[in-house]
Amino acid sequence: MRSLLFVPGDSDRKQQKGLDSGADALILDLEDSVALDAKPQARRITLAFLQAAQALPRRPRLIVRVNALSTGLTDADLDAVMPGAPDAIMLPKSEGGVDISHLGAKIAVREAEHDLPDGRTRIIPIATETGKGVFGLGSYAGATHRLQALTWGAEDLSADLGAETNRLTDGSYADPYRLARAMTLFAAAAAQVDAIDTVFTNFRDDAGFRAECLAARRDGFTGKMAIHPAQVAPINEIFSPAPAELAKAEAIIALFAANPGIGVIGLEGEMLDRPHLLRAQRLKARADRLQGH
Ligand code: COA
Ligand code: MG
Repeated sequence: MRSLLFVPGDSDRKQQKGLDSGADALILDLEDSVALDAKPQARRITLAFLQAAQALPRRPRLIVRVNALSTGLTDADLDAVMPGAPDAIMLPKSEGGVDISHLGAKIAVREAEHDLPDGRTRIIPIATETGKGVFGLGSYAGATHRLQALTWGAEDLSADLGAETNRLTDGSYADPYRLARAMTLFAAAAAQVDAIDTVFTNFRDDAGFRAECLAARRDGFTGKMAIHPAQVAPINEIFSPAPAELAKAEAIIALFAANPGIGVIGLEGEMLDRPHLLRAQRLKARADRLQGH
């Protein structure tokens, strides 16, 4: 998944627009973009959308962001949407492996009730929305087979820290958020899942957005969350392996395959060893998955 577009759960208009956005996934939001009074209505609208979208011949992946475990709203969210068989549940304010195991148990009960295969529904935590969550990043590895990817959040984290802002005047993140971002990459590598970059809220700033996408790809994120349909095309473009990159990866894989037992080899004046092969294999696997999408 390269692009994951947030769509408020109480807006059937935006949900329909989301279908045409080209996003690899829609995140149907029951949390912060929906006012407390509108939650019941958002659950109903989201279920109807899930059911209608499942019937389409081609559709994006459908993820529902439920309310955090601490709110007491999570069970009602799951009761409402699990009959619509979402592909994944996004857990905000997640504080570690214990939280996603807990969520996994709740999901398992509903899968059984709705005749869904056990383990079908994946989990994507937003893992850095609280200070405690940052300390929990090391506990995701092995917590549940449902874990699909990890993502991070800077807005709620700044609220938890009591910070004045999370960005400097030049638009870059202040130190606490750069640390949370980097730790998310380490946590995803430790858990062997994809790392997805957080949202960029200034949706009219195209140049700033592209720069943030490029920096995310450079550092190992495989996709980014979007809040506006205009952000989807740049994400898909930037997070798709370029043909030249893919050709180079294939050449590296072929070179090692043709020289079994060799540790290090030269290609076009560059030294290649095991990390280069692993990087090439990862890129090729990602390209293959996108082809299959
Ligand atoms: N998904 C689908 N469609 C969207 C959309 C989204 N996230 N954001 C905007 N659109 C649609 C609008 O409905 C509008 O279509 P319309 O004129 O036919 O109704 C069109 O795209 C252009 O929108 P625009 O006028 O540029 O923005 P806006 O002022 O209507 O909306 C936001 C701005 C921020 C309110 C909106 O982008 C949004 O709701 N984003 C998601 C918020 C969210 O889920 N946040 C939680 C995670 S941080
Ligand atoms: Mg939030």
